[in-house]
Amino acid sequence: MNADNHWHLIPYTIAIAHQKGGVGKTTTALTVGACLAEQKVHTLLIDLDPSLNLTTGVGLPPNLIDETLAEVLLAGTSLENAIRSTSYENLDILPSGPGMVSLSRQLHSRPSYETLLRKLINHQRMSVYEVILIDCPPMLDALTILALSAADLAIIPTQCEYYSLQALESMFRLIRLIRAKNNAQLRYRLLVTMFDRRGKFHARVFELLREHYSNALFKATIGFDTRVRESQMAGIPLTIFSPNCRAAEHYRSLSKELLFYVQKKRSEGA
Ligand SMILES: Nc1ncnc2c1ncn2[C@@H]1O[C@H](COP(=O)(O)OP(=O)(O)OP(=O)(O)O)[C@@H](O)[C@H]1O
Ligand SMILES: [Mg+2]
Repeated sequence: MNADNHWHLIPYTIAIAHQKGGVGKTTTALTVGACLAEQKVHTLLIDLDPSLNLTTGVGLPPNLIDETLAEVLLAGTSLENAIRSTSYENLDILPSGPGMVSLSRQLHSRPSYETLLRKLINHQRMSVYEVILIDCPPMLDALTILALSAADLAIIPTQCEYYSLQALESMFRLIRLIRAKNNAQLRYRLLVTMFDRRGKFHARVFELLREHYSNALFKATIGFDTRVRESQMAGIPLTIFSPNCRAAEHYRSLSKELLFYVQKKRSEGA
């Protein structure tokens, strides 16, 4: 799968979601996006989080953003104007901005708001993208529901920590609800982040995850790496900031595994 393939009329859509804060959602959206773009997969990032981390992560200055998904969905402004190119080839972003702060609240008064993002993704303008990666806020609110209702796959980043695992139950409940209500095709995969392979506790929790969710667990894991923080401070995706660091290699393995999965699902017609 690369930018030369034109069979993808509707992009494969991946929501990165977990209500637990700080588990690596934004890092995963940004770094996987950069890895896919490196592989010539035309990718759109959507920043659904009013905290703007993904938007600043690609180096966009937040004070220059006036159009976001909120303006497109609520005021009907043009999607074309809201999507920005980044400094990186094959990587565009629908950024977050001030308008996103009240979007969650305003969506509730719209009938069938859950399907609004999916309809937008079916828009012709989106057919130039092969993959869309949506970064969700750390809440199971209307924004996360919007994303999961539009997604083919949910990636749930989780640390090998008790509280992160505990929080998985509410994620699974929401996924079941969304499957029943408006997106029966929704699949999910767990991704272990900030993993300390040599730490006994992490290794034990990882084994538990493997026992319980073997088929739904990415083989790739993301190790703890201080270069991640440094790349975020610099506003440059990790794989470009520090191409050979440990976590960059881990994200490249993850992206390969993900592309293989996406291709398989596409060939099955899912
Ligand atoms: N593999 C890693 N190694 C070291 N630090 C990491 C790694 N992944 C993420 N971090 C750091 O952990 C913090 C949280 O990461 P990130 O912002 O990606 O999580 P999040 O789930 O998007 O958070 P939030 O729920 O607040 O949106 C950040 O400071 C980030 O730099
Ligand atoms: Mg985040």
